[in-house]
Amino acid sequence: MSHFSYQDGVLHAESTPLSRVAEEFGTPTYVYSKSALLENFAAYADACRGRDALVCYAMKANSNLAILDLLAREGAGFDIVSGGELLRVIAAGGDPGKVIFSGVGKTVAEMRLALEHGILCFNVESIPELHRLNEVAGSMGKRAPVSLRVNPNVDAKTHPYIATGLKANKFGVAFDDALATYRTAASLPNLDVVGIDCHIGSQLLDDAPLLEALDKLIELIDTLDTEGIHIHHLDIGGGIGVDYGAAGDAPPVPVGDYLGRLFARIDAWRAARHEGRAVKVIFEPGRSIVASTGVLLTRVEFLKPGVEKNFCIIDAAMNDMMRPTLYGAWMDMKAVAPRTGDVPELYDVVGPVCESGDWLARERALAVQPGDLLAMMSAGAYGMTMASNYNTRGRAAEVIVDGEQMHLVRRREEPAELYALESMLK
Ligand code: LLP
Repeated sequence: MSHFSYQDGVLHAESTPLSRVAEEFGTPTYVYSKSALLENFAAYADACRGRDALVCYAMKANSNLAILDLLAREGAGFDIVSGGELLRVIAAGGDPGKVIFSGVGKTVAEMRLALEHGILCFNVESIPELHRLNEVAGSMGKRAPVSLRVNPNVDAKTHPYIATGLKANKFGVAFDDALATYRTAASLPNLDVVGIDCHIGSQLLDDAPLLEALDKLIELIDTLDTEGIHIHHLDIGGGIGVDYGAAGDAPPVPVGDYLGRLFARIDAWRAARHEGRAVKVIFEPGRSIVASTGVLLTRVEFLKPGVEKNFCIIDAAMNDMMRPTLYGAWMDMKAVAPRTGDVPELYDVVGPVCESGDWLARERALAVQPGDLLAMMSAGAYGMTMASNYNTRGRAAEVIVDGEQMHLVRRREEPAELYALESMLK
């Protein structure tokens, strides 16, 4: 069941009318459903039940402390890409021992921080990074657990900005170089080679590319075994897409089906090898956990009829939600209280930011008036985390709804806070 539904003509988050959220906290506001979050996580947890598996939520998708706390309580680990994200995990009460650290440019300071907190694994993406990590660990008298992010050269068939598993991408170690890179890793005194990982892209609607990548990783694990390099965990990354509702989009593969197929392949491989080798399986899902959990609630300021287009000017803007202008992403825009009697008109829904790229939706049939509320749907992933203060706009508030209860989990930024860190020349 959707956790956002119309009840008595008003769009609700669980049992709370979005109009009540707007009255209480203003707009623009990100509104998340607690039960949607728990349900999305449970799809992974249920499919992993009874197995040696760990779901490391890719917190770049949404890193609000309340979201991290709720997921940590369900047993989630976290996929981080910065020292700042690690500090967020700790602030939210998450377990650093369930943290994996991804990313191509980890600094010395970030490596130190992660080693101090005893994270589960560094997903290393290059030979220079191996050497840096080896030195940092050595200087601390520690050994760093490493996995190599292998680039399996699989076409994820998604937007070029969010495809990461092709030879042309900056990510990972090329499949053909993986063996040599593993040898280097194994030869370094302060590293423990523990895993293998990949992440081929995001918003994948089909799981075939992920299963193809899995086959390549399995092949490599077997080769590494013959070299005496034994891999203890296999991390397949994130990437499962969500249904943004665009006309003509195929529905995404259900998480349970994907994990079922993936585990079936892993089981067959383990059975074929007589010792039935033990391998922990790690996932790094972001979008599929949080996208459908949230909406961006916004109010119509003006309607501006134009010669070629009509504009619906709202109080949210590209700084609140980058996805449409950055990726050409289509996201659904719903009236919170639809005016059923009025004839809809076609609008480009735009914000107040001084850029023609400041649009959130284009050519949408809407029956709206100034003052009406709109909800941008499936905005829980890569919305607030990619927001900026462009045009000295304070970032939106964030609210989690639990049944009829509303919890403000991030208050709106005030303008004075936006320049509080700045100073003038003496
Ligand atoms: N693991 C790694 C190493 C990643 O780079 C990512 C996402 C994930 C996991 C999680 O992928 P997901 O399950 O969310 O697809 N801002 C873009 C998406 C960028 C994805 C970056 N990496 C968007 O709004 O579509």
